[in-house]
Amino acid sequence: MMKSQGIRGPPYRFPHGSTREISEMRSQSMGKPMEMSHTIFPRIQPHIYLWTKTYGKNFLNWHGSQAQLFVTEPELIKEILMNREGFYPKMEMEGYAKKLLGEALITNEGEKWAKIRKLANHTFHAESLKSMVPEMSSGVEMLLERWKDRIGEEIDVFKEFGLLTTEVISRTAFGSSYVEGGHIFEMVAKLTQITVRNIYRVRFPGISMLLKSDDEIEALKLEKRIKSSIVELVKKREKVKNNGEFEDFGSDYLGQLLKISHEADTKKRITIEQMIDEIKAVYGAGHLTTTSLLSWCVFLLAIHTDWQEKAREEVFGIFSSENPNSDGIARLKIMNMIINECLRLYPPRYKLSLSPNYVHCPADIFILTPKHGVQVILQAI
Ligand code: HEM
Repeated sequence: MMKSQGIRGPPYRFPHGSTREISEMRSQSMGKPMEMSHTIFPRIQPHIYLWTKTYGKNFLNWHGSQAQLFVTEPELIKEILMNREGFYPKMEMEGYAKKLLGEALITNEGEKWAKIRKLANHTFHAESLKSMVPEMSSGVEMLLERWKDRIGEEIDVFKEFGLLTTEVISRTAFGSSYVEGGHIFEMVAKLTQITVRNIYRVRFPGISMLLKSDDEIEALKLEKRIKSSIVELVKKREKVKNNGEFEDFGSDYLGQLLKISHEADTKKRITIEQMIDEIKAVYGAGHLTTTSLLSWCVFLLAIHTDWQEKAREEVFGIFSSENPNSDGIARLKIMNMIINECLRLYPPRYKLSLSPNYVHCPADIFILTPKHGVQVILQAI
């Protein structure tokens, strides 16, 4: 059926599909240093680079026995995302990704999604974030303090920004419990690393029941430890409230989640498992994305010293030697332009995966129906 619509792709190879080929191509392309250039696509996604050239802008490849349709044609992506019925179902998670993101905002749909989305909108609303600027500034101050003694030395900014974003997300999600939250996020970060390094590894259910890899064992341990640490944190908050020290569970994300976990109306209530998944997901979604954005910004500013100068002038013009405040941040035009350019050149999220239940209309462009079970991946190039 795909062939009849002009869709081609690499042949299916038993039992791994295309994943072995992808891993080999990636370790070859990423195994050597690259020259200073923005042409990173063939390096980080060599398979997509090659297969769009060989088979066309939309091609079919295999994740194990699961067919995946890659759509890289901007017009078709736009059509899918603009679908009036809004029917572009989210990807179903499995393996490590399921351990990391579980059943949360990122993966849920319908009523389950709406319930938590309302709550996240409240916690992460621009007005609520404004009040967190001083906390964020103190995170940056700690980072700059660490860097002070290292003038003239090489600094691994990705690692450093990783610590900063962990600190900031922890303060936003856990408020006063951010130190304990930070430890939980360190474990989630380890689980994220395991998930990322196994992205092209196919699991065969029978075999992985009997024989677990080191990563699978480590992921299981982390999952258990994250759960018990969150349960402990939850108990502490409940105790504080029950002792009458606070009227509420708190206005941070944890407090809001706790509040609906105690809802009298069972329709509104969430379970402790859901709460754990939401906490993991907010970190899973927010940590690597912002770390990679900040790292690329610093890299680009390092090679474009004229823009570095313009940014510095703007920041000092607005804040002088004061710490940033939300009103001033809203007036940073050049910084905004720089961030947008970094997002354009090096997007932290460069693809969207839709579930095999995706049905595309109108039929004259493409027909996909659930019975064919094709997962759709959208990635503009
Ligand atoms: C540069 C930074 C970021 C980028 C480029 C980015 C990108 C994205 C994209 C493309 C999606 C849609 C994904 C999909 O539907 O499959 C998404 C969803 C989401 N992101 Fe981010 N994100 C960033 C930072 C953050 C941060 C800091 C947080 C949390 C603290 C976060 C939390 C979420 C959540 C919870 C969702 C799911 C929302 C929903 O389905 O309602 N993201 N993000």
